[in-house]
Amino acid sequence: MARILHVTDTHLVVPPALVCGRLDTAACLEACVASIAAALPRIAPVDAILITGDLTDDGTPQSYRLLRETLAPLRLPLLAIPGNHDLREPMRAAFADAGLFPTQGRLNFVRDICGTGGDLRIVGIDTLVEGSGGGVVDAATLDFLDEALATTRPVLLAMHHPPFTSGIVFMDSIGLAGVEGLRDRLERAACQVRILCGHLHVAATGSLGRVPAIVGPSPCSAFDVDFRPDAPVGFFTGGGGFMVHDWSDGFRSLLVPPAIGAGPFPFRD
Ligand SMILES: [Fe+2]
Repeated sequence: MARILHVTDTHLVVPPALVCGRLDTAACLEACVASIAAALPRIAPVDAILITGDLTDDGTPQSYRLLRETLAPLRLPLLAIPGNHDLREPMRAAFADAGLFPTQGRLNFVRDICGTGGDLRIVGIDTLVEGSGGGVVDAATLDFLDEALATTRPVLLAMHHPPFTSGIVFMDSIGLAGVEGLRDRLERAACQVRILCGHLHVAATGSLGRVPAIVGPSPCSAFDVDFRPDAPVGFFTGGGGFMVHDWSDGFRSLLVPPAIGAGPFPFRD
């Protein structure tokens, strides 16, 4: 079994700053870490924690430093790819000691996890276009995927922007370009692949060709599922928890909500 936790869109800023003058994302991340720490005895062993972008809201070194400090008590290897709110060079510098990213170019990575019941490859691709909300899978990343997907291991492919439209109009307006090239690479790959994303601030599933794509929720805010063309543009407070993905004889993904009611109560009349 190889197992990872998936957190996304933490949008961290250093207190007393608030995102959009309203969201205390540092407190949200602390609550998320507390909820992971409480769950770990029930869901162990866990091999790594993956953040699929928008680690910070402002891309500052101070925010990346606080992110790593806040996650450190979990004592889990940290994997990450940037989202549209991140900045490439400060993020590269913040992870320099982890040897995760190349020294230049996009923040793409490959990490193999060798679990007792099977091995899993985590591939991260950087879809960030600095200055833009939308993302791209560029030619260099497609070349990178040629090698990264040449494996017999099952692959979890992490990318911030989902490769499918959500129906949430203001989010689809900052979607992903270069999807056809990605679909082509995935069609050619011999390995099993599942895509993991963020960006939507709501849990969702879709697909790209034959490959399922799963979007995790943000622990700090939510976007409404509103398909109307004139849907209000904005966010709601309240986090959505984190996800657990593992591989044994196949992929399995579960959402762990931030809070559940009282219980457990025994099943009886
Ligand atoms: Fe986000």
